[in-house]
Amino acid sequence: MKAHKIAGSVVCVYANVESTDLFEGIWPIPRGVSLNCYLVQGKKTALIDLIRDWSEAPKQVESALASIGSGFDKIDYLVLNHLEPDHTGWLREFRKINPHAEILATAKGINLVKTFYKEEQGLRAVKDGEKLDLGGPELVFFETPNIHWPETMMTWEPQSGTLFSCDGFGSFGSLGSRVFDDEFNPEEHAFYEAEGLRYYASIISSFSSFVSRGIDKIASLDIKCVAPSHGIVWREKPQTIIDRYRRYAGYSTGPAEKEITVIWGSMYGNTWQGVDAVIRGIKAEGVPCHVHRIPDEDPSYSLADAFRSSALVLAMPTYEYAMFPPMAYVLDIFRRKHIFGKTVFRIGSWGWAGGAKREYEAAIETLKWESVPSMEWAGAPTGQELAVLEERGRELARIVKA
Ligand code: FEO
Repeated sequence: MKAHKIAGSVVCVYANVESTDLFEGIWPIPRGVSLNCYLVQGKKTALIDLIRDWSEAPKQVESALASIGSGFDKIDYLVLNHLEPDHTGWLREFRKINPHAEILATAKGINLVKTFYKEEQGLRAVKDGEKLDLGGPELVFFETPNIHWPETMMTWEPQSGTLFSCDGFGSFGSLGSRVFDDEFNPEEHAFYEAEGLRYYASIISSFSSFVSRGIDKIASLDIKCVAPSHGIVWREKPQTIIDRYRRYAGYSTGPAEKEITVIWGSMYGNTWQGVDAVIRGIKAEGVPCHVHRIPDEDPSYSLADAFRSSALVLAMPTYEYAMFPPMAYVLDIFRRKHIFGKTVFRIGSWGWAGGAKREYEAAIETLKWESVPSMEWAGAPTGQELAVLEERGRELARIVKA
């Protein structure tokens, strides 16, 4: 693994994680994720963010450091922007190699160093706006709480104009041998954009108001490079990812995109027949439509499209007097991730008794959704019911277009 120079004294050293493990123990990462760290060298050397022992990440970062004549033992300051273990899990091993480096984090971050890693020595809590002189370059710390945990900060290096943003402006998807935005082609950018949205919806979306505040806070900086701890390093068009995150944060309060996400489950095809009719109606109105079947597909994919869409179609049969269980899980995730402000059409089939409606209405109580009248049918839908469903799909699409 080699290091990638951002500017004179600023270098990206990183690890590609290719693992069947779930990110945070929940989210699949079939195309991996990167753990990015950054070295800033003056008379003193700072390493910004660390890794966990995952997919040989320590060895990868060690070899990148070695490629520029550095190493974990040569670090004077370890800056921990955020204490989640994907960035800090290897801290005790780092400490064994380098007992002298001073560890810097916000006061809340230092508390987590103590509780997670039982470290008590060589810790320094930094304040919002505090500077650290490295003898040449300097670092400035900005508290940006809840992007992604309460203790989070971003680190700014003014000489190069690099913002080390940790989880903020990050993405799923490992990087391979390239790291900079100008090194990826449009197809690759489309991949990272999709994985970036899935990352945002899964990891960050419930903190969207903090994302907006964080972006306001850094707005006056002359940012030449956005250097997150996951995904692409943005040196050519840093504003692209900042604008994208501002747009994502806005989805939480609306308006979102003029698109519809259809999430459906079906036991024996009767609910599917209704879904198919609704989709025909939506498509006839020319509104983009994302279709996800559960539980075949992990909910993070429907979560991402639901987050960006103005309207949803939720289709499920009644199952044991209640909702089809995978839909109950999806709605719970939506509640936790603040998928607010959607226009929603619920449909579904029942066998010999209904019951999905009651559980559904309780599940969406806090979601601030505008529900259009739902539609249920017994067993297989009749031709007349299919015609109504198609028309209701058209009506929903017209609401979205309006
Ligand atoms: Fe990449 Fe919230 O840790």
